Amino acid sequence: MAHAIRNPLASLRGLTQLLEESAAGKSDPDGVEAQRFAGVMLKEIDRLNTVVSRLLNFSAPSRDEWKRSRVAEVIQRSLELAGHQLRRKNLEVRVALADDLPPVVWCEDKILQAMLNILINGVEAAPEDGRITIGAAWYPHSGGGHGELEIALSNNGPALTAEQLRQIFLPYYTTKESGVGLGLAITQQIILSHGGRITAENTREGVRFRAVIPARLWMECWRRRAWSPRRS
Ligand SMILES: Nc1ncnc2c1ncn2[C@@H]1O[C@H](COP(=O)(O)OP(=O)(O)O)[C@@H](O)[C@H]1O
Ligand SMILES: [Mg+2]
Repeated sequence: MAHAIRNPLASLRGLTQLLEESAAGKSDPDGVEAQRFAGVMLKEIDRLNTVVSRLLNFSAPSRDEWKRSRVAEVIQRSLELAGHQLRRKNLEVRVALADDLPPVVWCEDKILQAMLNILINGVEAAPEDGRITIGAAWYPHSGGGHGELEIALSNNGPALTAEQLRQIFLPYYTTKESGVGLGLAITQQIILSHGGRITAENTREGVRFRAVIPARLWMECWRRRAWSPRRS
C-alpha cells in the first residue's frame, strides 16, 4: 500500500521539478514539453486517487473478519500500540469501562484501526503531560432494544474550531503540516460499516470522540451463527 502511494508521489515530484525547470528556462517556448509533463501528472494523480478510494473501501468488513471480541482487550491493545507515543509525551491515560460490557462481535482489526486513529490524533493534540480518557458503556435498551455500545475517547488540548467540527471527517481534511487527512475518514467508514455512528465535540475535558455501535448487526450474526451480517 505504501508503495502504491509512494511511487506516484515520487514520479509527481520528478515531473513537477521538470515542469519548474522547463518554465524557468527558455527551452520550451510553445509549452509543448510542459503540456506533456502535465498530462503525465494528471494520470499519476488519478492513479493516487484510485489507490486512496480503494483504501477507503477496504474498510467494508469482509465475511470472515467478524469475530467475537472483548472491548477491554481491543482498548488495551490500542494503548499498547500507541505506548511509545504516549510515554514520549508523558500522557496520563485513564480508562473507565462499565462492568456490564457484553462480549461483542465485530471486525476486530478494523475497530482496532479506528481506535488507534482516534487515539493517535488525541496524542498529537494533547499537550505534554496531558491526559487521554477512554470510556466504554453499554446501553441495553437503545438501538431498537438490542442495545448499543458506546466508546468515547477524549484528550485535553485546544478545542476544535467551527471549521474543524464541520470538516473533520472529510477525506483529505488536515491541519497538520505532514498530515494526510484520512485517519478520521477511514474511522468513520469503519464505524458506519458496523451500523454505528461517530461524533466529535468539545467538552470540559477537551476534545471528545464518541462512537456508538448498535448490537443489532452482531446479535443477528450470533443468532444465525454466521459471521457476516446480512447486508441490507
Ligand atoms: N483530538 C483532536 N484534537 C484536535 N483536532 C483534531 C483531533 N483529532 C483530529 N483533529 C483534526 O482533524 C484533522 C483530521 O484528522 P485525521 O483525519 O486523523 O487526519 P490527520 O491526522 O492526518 O490530520 C486533523 O488534522 C485535526 O485538524
Ligand atoms: Mg490522524
